[in-house]
Amino acid sequence: MIDPPADNILFLNTVDSTNRYASEHFDELADGTLVWADEQTAGRGRLGRSWLSPKGENLYVSWVVKQIREPLFLAAAAASLAVLETLREAAGNDLSFYLKWPNDIYSGPDKISGILSEGVVRETLRGVIVGMGININSPEATLKRTGIRAASLHSLDGRVFSLKKMILRLAKHVCACYIMYLNDPDGLFARWKAENLLIGQELDFVLPDGRVIRSPFLDIAEDGGAVILDDGRKRIFSCGDVRIAKGSLDFGT
Ligand code: BTN
Repeated sequence: MIDPPADNILFLNTVDSTNRYASEHFDELADGTLVWADEQTAGRGRLGRSWLSPKGENLYVSWVVKQIREPLFLAAAAASLAVLETLREAAGNDLSFYLKWPNDIYSGPDKISGILSEGVVRETLRGVIVGMGININSPEATLKRTGIRAASLHSLDGRVFSLKKMILRLAKHVCACYIMYLNDPDGLFARWKAENLLIGQELDFVLPDGRVIRSPFLDIAEDGGAVILDDGRKRIFSCGDVRIAKGSLDFGT
């Protein structure tokens, strides 16, 4: 059994991006540190997008992972499970959340959280920074500005949540998921896969050149890639190579 790193949260009032900060200060930050900002002025999203990060509304957090495990996507998988557990604990049984491959967290048709994992390379790969953006108290006006169907805990549940309590909850779940990541990566992968509710659904997969492949989401491969049918042949696409068209999601409504 490998000991998890101690809880360590670094709070910043304002920063351009917690991922950028954590990567630049990687050598000084202890393994497992959560860099938490009240506001980001240039929050980064996946696929070159930005992440709207207004002051005092939500959690903007980067997790410093110095113990690398293969396959590399497992650190992001661990973070998405930690976020899922954090949201479930805060919301109680009234709301349901699930993972949309690879690591987005959704409630029904609305995205509530996103994960951005970036490698730290100093000649060789030294670690991973896993950024978590979690919509906690954003009102509808902010959510509209994201340009996608988005929700916050507040918009779904009506309450205003204490960000301090939420970061402590998140730290607890990140720590538990780090233990699993270090000691039982196969178990972590199995749990993460089980939370990916889209497996089995018929979906539109969009390639970077705009080509759309309509296919059942057959499975998730060991490397985290999506297994789908392209012209009748099984193919595995990494999350950088394909995205799921949101319009094809089926919520049984
Ligand atoms: C996505 O596009 O779904 C991923 C969004 C990740 C946003 C978080 S907020 C904290 C961390 N710092 C960043 O600049 N981005 C990530």
